[in-house]
Amino acid sequence: MITQKRKLNFDKALALASRAQQFIPGITQTASKRPEAFAPGAFPDFIERAQGSRVWDVDGNEYIDFVMACGPVTLGYCYPEVDHAIQTQLARGIIFSRPGALEAEVAELLAEIVPSAEMTRFFKGGAEANSAALRLARAFTGRTRVASCGYRGWHDQWAVVHTPRGIPHCLAELIHEFKYNDLQSLETLLENDPHQFAAVIIDPVSAETPQENFLRGVQALAHKHGALLIFDEIVTGFRLAPGGAQAYFGVTPDLAVFAKGIANGMPLSAVVGRRDVMQMATQVFMTLTYGDEQLSLAAARATLNVLRTQDVCGHIWRAGRRLVQGVKQIIEETGTPFAFRGVEAMPAFVATQQFAGKPLTGEEQNCAWYYLLAELAQHGILWRKHSLILPSYSHTEQDIDRAVEAMGYVLSDLRDLLAAGKLRQAVPVTDLPIGFKRL
Ligand SMILES: Cc1ncc(COP(=O)(O)O)c(C=O)c1O
Repeated sequence: MITQKRKLNFDKALALASRAQQFIPGITQTASKRPEAFAPGAFPDFIERAQGSRVWDVDGNEYIDFVMACGPVTLGYCYPEVDHAIQTQLARGIIFSRPGALEAEVAELLAEIVPSAEMTRFFKGGAEANSAALRLARAFTGRTRVASCGYRGWHDQWAVVHTPRGIPHCLAELIHEFKYNDLQSLETLLENDPHQFAAVIIDPVSAETPQENFLRGVQALAHKHGALLIFDEIVTGFRLAPGGAQAYFGVTPDLAVFAKGIANGMPLSAVVGRRDVMQMATQVFMTLTYGDEQLSLAAARATLNVLRTQDVCGHIWRAGRRLVQGVKQIIEETGTPFAFRGVEAMPAFVATQQFAGKPLTGEEQNCAWYYLLAELAQHGILWRKHSLILPSYSHTEQDIDRAVEAMGYVLSDLRDLLAAGKLRQAVPVTDLPIGFKRL
């Protein structure tokens, strides 16, 4: 046995949560980091420090992290080359009144690594970069509608479809969703409103793997209808391959958006793409104070150099494969209501809503997630529900094996509780919230 179950103490975290509640609506800024996204009361809510694949919560408990800050930390926490680059730049200045030298250098590195990156504009967040890419596409084509598949972020024009509260309803007319691996659903949209679509935007992989020729088919349909193809590579970028999913699958979009993974956790995003489309950025209004902030660009330069010279993505794939293989086998052996989806470099473990041939109620599913997350935390493993698991370059084979072993104990116990109809009693919280659902 390599994992040791321990009882967790969250005294400091509980005190901090009640303070945070008074001053921050929702306790924290990222929906998928809120307590209700995990197992409230039985999972660490505040982290104090991190190193490699490990994090320590404010109460001093140590964990192997498989959430990795929701994706940006592809190299691992406190990666020496990146931290050194940030420290060196910090001594020189954070931001200047004229452009620093780093912007052009990082854009040039991106052009070398990413197939579509003839030119680059930098931003801070993923939603912001997606909005910028769409503005470029609209200006270039003179059209307004967008066909979208997947999550794009919190900005009005994206969030209006699923979380419309506080957003002018008229925006919903301009965004049309199509289904992953369903070219017909895209074709129907594009044919129903001919000459209206500026862009087709999609994350090349999410909780599903593209069927043979799906991405190429999306590209062909977009171009047939005069729309640009935009890849949202916010998660796939610098993870599936140094050049992103576009390099991995050999499909080069007109524009692509990168964020997580570009600077190993520093706040930087980028729109890259075809020179003629990117040049529109000089004709539309697209400006921000922090786009050339130097610490993030220094971190990006260091991160991209590590990606160029070391087998980061190969390591992530191998770690993911080992994890998926181990966890899948346990799921099959125990018959517990979970399944693997997507690709191993960013696996999604989802709920299957059935146990022993019988459907589970919503409450039973919630209890199963709660139990899984709470028990894994006691085994020193940070996991998440409804979303991607994100191994990094710093995860070792031992880390993966510890997670698989812990999963073995937890899912065996979960099976027994489900079979005996005793899961509800084993979960201390009633009225469990569903939490933010990313997939
Ligand atoms: C595919 C994808 N697009 C866009 C976003 C939004 O990025 P941000 O939260 O940085 O605005 C995310 C964030 O999780 C994402 O996964």
